[in-house]
Amino acid sequence: MPDNKPRLLVARVFPPDVMARAARDYDCVVNDRDANWTGADVIARAGGVDAILTSARTKYPADVIRDLPATVRMLATFSVGYEHIDIAAAKARGLVVSNTPDVLTEAVADLTILLLLAASRRAREAFEMLSGDRWVKIGGWKPTQFLGAGPQGKVLGILGMGRIGRAAAARARAMGMVIHYHNRSRLAPDLEQGAVYHDTPQSLLKVSQFLSIHCESTPETRHLVNREGIALMPPGAIVVNTARGDIIDDDALIEALESGRLAAAGLDVFNGEPDVDKRYFTLKNAFILPHIGSATVETRNAMGFRALDNLDAFFRGAEPRDRLA
Ligand code: DGY
Repeated sequence: MPDNKPRLLVARVFPPDVMARAARDYDCVVNDRDANWTGADVIARAGGVDAILTSARTKYPADVIRDLPATVRMLATFSVGYEHIDIAAAKARGLVVSNTPDVLTEAVADLTILLLLAASRRAREAFEMLSGDRWVKIGGWKPTQFLGAGPQGKVLGILGMGRIGRAAAARARAMGMVIHYHNRSRLAPDLEQGAVYHDTPQSLLKVSQFLSIHCESTPETRHLVNREGIALMPPGAIVVNTARGDIIDDDALIEALESGRLAAAGLDVFNGEPDVDKRYFTLKNAFILPHIGSATVETRNAMGFRALDNLDAFFRGAEPRDRLA
């Protein structure tokens, strides 16, 4: 790194090893209180700053990108998702943008399986019964208690067969599931690994006894899992979402969970999070987690290091590996 360290606005408190490396190599201005900064908050603090290390919680639409001080030349997001950044506006302004792909693939795929099994084995209901001290009252173990659905031999439909979708498929295959998928384009046989390709999401939904969502959030995927889509799925199907909340229409999913049209859902991401639709709080067949897909020490460190690698490359005049704009 140059002697004169670039000035970096660190817009969240990232894991300690990431903060230490950032402080070693950059002149850091840190969001010490780990507040959820808006775009305006970032702009207000970015005077004289060369680059910003951000999370996906702060949104960078075109007007925020326009109003960033002229000194800001790069925006590195600590996330694989980048729907919070207007990439076209960044390109138009000459703002370099990078994300952190690859490093969270395994952690998110692990959590996909956790959700799939927790939903299908009715973990929430069982946990609430036991922790509510009702096991004695209901007479203890019974042969018919909490019967769920086993994954073996069932079709797992994967919506979005990118890195994370494929890693989830590998785990599901090991459990004896049959993999079908929809993707914008069909994968080569070595990546497909025998999975059955569907050229429309609707065709995939029709066969998905389990559905796992791994596509990006785009105008095309918004509310892809809606009333019409759910009506196509086999009765008693199970939906898992570790991608983005807006791919599901909450009204449609909740209605289907309440009626039993769908057996269960496992959700790590939500529309409007962290302000989650409160109906999920009382739906026993919804196993819900607060967006912890990538939350392992190893993964969050790797995400931070990858973001810093991208910044380092930029400031030594090289091409950032994960450049989006
Ligand atoms: C990601 O990396 O996109 C995670 O969802 C965290 O925002």
